[in-house]
Amino acid sequence: MIAKKPPMGWNSWNTFGDKINEQLIKEMADRIVEDGYRDLGYEYIIIDDCWSLRERVDGKLVADPALFPNGMKALADYIHSKGLKFGMYSCAGTKTCAGYPSSYGHEFSDAKQFAEWDVDYLKYDFCNFPVSGDAKNAYLTMAMALRSTGRDILFAACNWGMYDPSGWMRSHGAHSYRSTGDIFDGPKSYKDLFISQVENVENNAPGCWNDMDMLIVGMHGNGNVGIGGCSDLQYLQHFAMWAFLGSPLIIGADLRKLDEANKKILFCKGLIEINQDEECRPPFLVDHDDTRKYTFAKLLSGNRIAIAFFNLAAEDQWTQNVGICFDDLGIHSESGIRLQLTDAITGEDLGIYEDSYATKIAPDESKVIIAQLIFPE
Ligand code: GLA
Repeated sequence: MIAKKPPMGWNSWNTFGDKINEQLIKEMADRIVEDGYRDLGYEYIIIDDCWSLRERVDGKLVADPALFPNGMKALADYIHSKGLKFGMYSCAGTKTCAGYPSSYGHEFSDAKQFAEWDVDYLKYDFCNFPVSGDAKNAYLTMAMALRSTGRDILFAACNWGMYDPSGWMRSHGAHSYRSTGDIFDGPKSYKDLFISQVENVENNAPGCWNDMDMLIVGMHGNGNVGIGGCSDLQYLQHFAMWAFLGSPLIIGADLRKLDEANKKILFCKGLIEINQDEECRPPFLVDHDDTRKYTFAKLLSGNRIAIAFFNLAAEDQWTQNVGICFDDLGIHSESGIRLQLTDAITGEDLGIYEDSYATKIAPDESKVIIAQLIFPE
């Protein structure tokens, strides 16, 4: 099955924009393997916009030979030789967002071309779409075109949440759908995207995932979407939010320059485990206090449930008391069930709790817990 779980990988856009080339993409593939990302599940290496010549040649998309001298098939071979998967980009409109040739009217021949290059993932953007066009129909066409190739190609639709994609992208063949506008590398951006999606993730299930956009973890204001950067605590909160809500986890930073603190965030096994859990349940919102603090829960495999508290208050605001009464998880004290709590971020054993759990979290802090149900003898 394609996209049984939220896709994980790396994409060129957030840091590099149009400054991409074959050598760079190979270096990112090298880092993904050698630095240990692949072993944690990061498997797609995705080239975003700006990879082709400015015009089609004989009706075909052609990789810019100045940037990709050996062509896309050779790059795919390199990426596959590392045990990774290869992603590319096109758009449903007449031009891509950066003005390159796009797939409107060329869906079946372009899909065939991508399959011939051994592409495993196609991000499909929504710029320059004719006003008379039908978005649902356009995504359906490309979904069918990709299926017609006979190759397993993950179809990552990217229409930025327009026309309520959570309602129709699954039925129209997408494996993920961008539900948000573009992310930028600052705290307001990731918090706004999170707030826009808190009640829009319940359709997450194997085969089709709500994509909240690529990660900015570790960018520190550098690159194509850099606007000042975030603190490490904020990058951790952003990653915890994306992981908990079931978004694809697609790294956007330059892997060669990631500092240890942010590498540790991307390597957080407890958060990845929640995102990639075998049961593939969506989370649910337990409670929130305006837009300052949120409590989520998510059923996990193995009689477990994850709980997340996010404090979104800006840095000059107060530490918040957060907590959960287990009745709100459907666990009543009369049942005799207790919860063994583990901090998903630090791995710390928090002990066994009977009715409730409470703690304090500082501005921009997150507490994510994995709770194992202990049944009475
Ligand atoms: C849109 C998408 C971005 C990126 C750019 C490329 O803005 O939302 O993720 O793909 O186009 O031009």
